[in-house]
Amino acid sequence: MTLAPSLSGDLARDPFADLKLQPPDALLSLIKAYRLDPRPTKIDLGVGVYRDGRGATPVFHAVKAAEAELLAAQDTKAYLGPEGDLGFLDHLSELVLGEGVDTSDLVGMQTPGGTGALRLAAEMAAMARPGTRIWLGTPTWPNHPQIFEQAGLTLQTYRHFDPATGAVDFEAIREALHRAQPGDLVLLHGCCHNPTGADFTAVQWKQVNALVLERRLIPLIDLAYQGLGLGLDEDAAGPRALFAAADNALIAYSCDKNFGLYRERTGALFARARWHADTVRSTLHFLARCAWSMPPDHGAAAVRLILQSPELSRLWRAELTAMRERLAAMRAAVAAALPALEPVRGQHGLFSLLPLTPHQVEALRRDAGVYMAGSGRINVAGLNEANLSDFIAALSAVGL
Ligand SMILES: Cc1ncc(COP(=O)(O)O)c(C=O)c1O
Repeated sequence: MTLAPSLSGDLARDPFADLKLQPPDALLSLIKAYRLDPRPTKIDLGVGVYRDGRGATPVFHAVKAAEAELLAAQDTKAYLGPEGDLGFLDHLSELVLGEGVDTSDLVGMQTPGGTGALRLAAEMAAMARPGTRIWLGTPTWPNHPQIFEQAGLTLQTYRHFDPATGAVDFEAIREALHRAQPGDLVLLHGCCHNPTGADFTAVQWKQVNALVLERRLIPLIDLAYQGLGLGLDEDAAGPRALFAAADNALIAYSCDKNFGLYRERTGALFARARWHADTVRSTLHFLARCAWSMPPDHGAAAVRLILQSPELSRLWRAELTAMRERLAAMRAAVAAALPALEPVRGQHGLFSLLPLTPHQVEALRRDAGVYMAGSGRINVAGLNEANLSDFIAALSAVGL
């Protein structure tokens, strides 16, 4: 057995001595605790994937059909190139940005999930101007700040969510956008805000877009749930308007939720670069080459087959509609059962942030087997007809 050198400063002999243990991912610990809980009545509202009324996360029928086609027709696994599947990017750009979008200075890159797109966008911004500031509304998806910081951006935060109303804190956002300096990035959740479910209204999008343009900020729109809020076009309306009007804008897109492709890591980065599209394209290719070289193919190929086939598109849209309607029905049921949760009705997507203290979250887990993130974030899709009344009773028992 080799003993670790006792002098941690001796980097030649002990090169990793200065690394620190990273804090464990809270959601992964939650998943483990849920798995070990023997109570048959336990309820999982932690994990961030869609679940149907039976608690399953099935493969879309449209995806299964596209995969069958792929299996039969695919005749090579040779690399595609750093930008990925061009057909996927063409079809996806229409879905995201609308038909007839101006493509003259649009750059598309297929990425490993929305996470890959966020990281690529952040690296490009940091490369263009080291230390570029990025404005984040809080709370936000916990991966956002660490992705941006690791890529070399400087974080600025403001309050996105007002717990008193369960809606967006629009004054705080307006004030932050006024404080931001030209050239700063602003992260905007396209729809289905994670973790609060509190999205901009159509009127608020107009105001945000006007401010972003007036202040010459660079929007980085994280669109990870298109179609799970109000509808495919409705969820993209604000981002589309901003992308059409801005000289410089970025959209980090995930197909992992709205096509149910999670582990296939399917996403894209779209960049509008009015004056420097060629340099932006070449920079993104370079950064992708350094990070993953070529993106994974399978999920993007399945999405391309779905979007290019009217029949598969119809099937996919129907499946997505069923998911969205189920989420809305669960939201309505929660709001109807507990007056304190009325805001949940008007929030969108998978997540809502409940007005619970850490102590109440802990009591729900300990006494009723209800598992949610420590912040009080629930995945609404974890609720169904069979567990809803138990969930409401557990919330009442902790005083909600
Ligand atoms: C707000 C937000 N952005 C991006 C992502 C990343 O998605 P992907 O799994 O495609 O990397 C997620 C995933 O949970 C998310 O919630």
